[in-house]
Amino acid sequence: MGAPGLPDGRPGANPAAATATRRVGDGTELATGETGDSLRAPAVSLSGVTIAFPLKGGATYVAVEGADLAVAAGEFVAIVGPTGCGKSTLLNASAGLLEPRGGSVRIFGAPLAGLNRRAGYLFQADALMPWKSALDNVAVALEPKGVGRRDAEGQGRRWLERVGLKAFVTSYPHMLSGGQRKRVALAQMLIRDPEILLMDEPFGPLDAQTRQIMGNLLLKLWAQDRKAVLFVTHDLEEAIALADRVVVMSAGPAARIIGQYPVSLSRPRDTADIRLDPEFHRIHREIWAQLRVEVQKTYGDSDMAG
Ligand SMILES: Nc1ncnc2c1ncn2[C@@H]1O[C@H](COP(=O)(O)OP(=O)(O)O)[C@@H](O)[C@H]1O
Ligand SMILES: [Mg+2]
Repeated sequence: MGAPGLPDGRPGANPAAATATRRVGDGTELATGETGDSLRAPAVSLSGVTIAFPLKGGATYVAVEGADLAVAAGEFVAIVGPTGCGKSTLLNASAGLLEPRGGSVRIFGAPLAGLNRRAGYLFQADALMPWKSALDNVAVALEPKGVGRRDAEGQGRRWLERVGLKAFVTSYPHMLSGGQRKRVALAQMLIRDPEILLMDEPFGPLDAQTRQIMGNLLLKLWAQDRKAVLFVTHDLEEAIALADRVVVMSAGPAARIIGQYPVSLSRPRDTADIRLDPEFHRIHREIWAQLRVEVQKTYGDSDMAG
């Protein structure tokens, strides 16, 4: 995903990395931005994370309690769980949008304070500006970094090409299909070259076929430089097709992480073909055995054969 030769290459993109150093085991000083932290500490580490929301009348709703999860640098982790269990809540805590009541969130080993600036986000809802062209929507993402307009447009064009939208550079969001708008949003996230990708049901609103195509595009781009990915979905098949590891959350309240399953299917993967693999079925059966119990709790019925 890295655009070779970008002036905002990773070490420089993290202002702290330029000056901060840390001592590692053998006494060598390492810059914290790149080698030292990203090799040794998980990209995202949640430990004992508890998140509660205030309710009317002074009560609180404990959505997530004591959640432990680590995403290694370069790892693709998918979170599944019944609707309303707290998947988005955990992702928002990793993004620094929500402060946990208990436990800690660490990013490459450092406690997260405020917004997670080493991460890019992609949410289910469209975040494109309707009055801007596809190119402007992508290029504008470089504005906070102080990249000049011509440079940003050049990079924006290259990113639109990478996501298969070369012919749609001047199109406005209303002229694009749902899948094409997702491609623009993907380019908008990746152009900033974040070290961590936080994705919350990003392909949720798309039809099944388009979801698989978007999954393949995401995997292709991810394979180029393997960012750490935390991908939330309610779709177990999508989770297995994409991830290195699938994490299962229990039904809320006080949801926690109750299962972690490595997905050893070889890469590169085709997210449609991989569903026919016997190993895919084996993993699916194993995870579903646990997940269905949680889903049943949420819906409170027993009419869930299969
Ligand atoms: N701001 C909030 N205030 C009160 N309750 C919330 C808030 N955000 C989420 N919740 C509750 O926390 C639980 C988990 O929500 P969420 O993380 O969105 O679930 P998921 O993404 O797994 O569907 C739900 O019961 C939801 O109603
Ligand atoms: Mg959600």
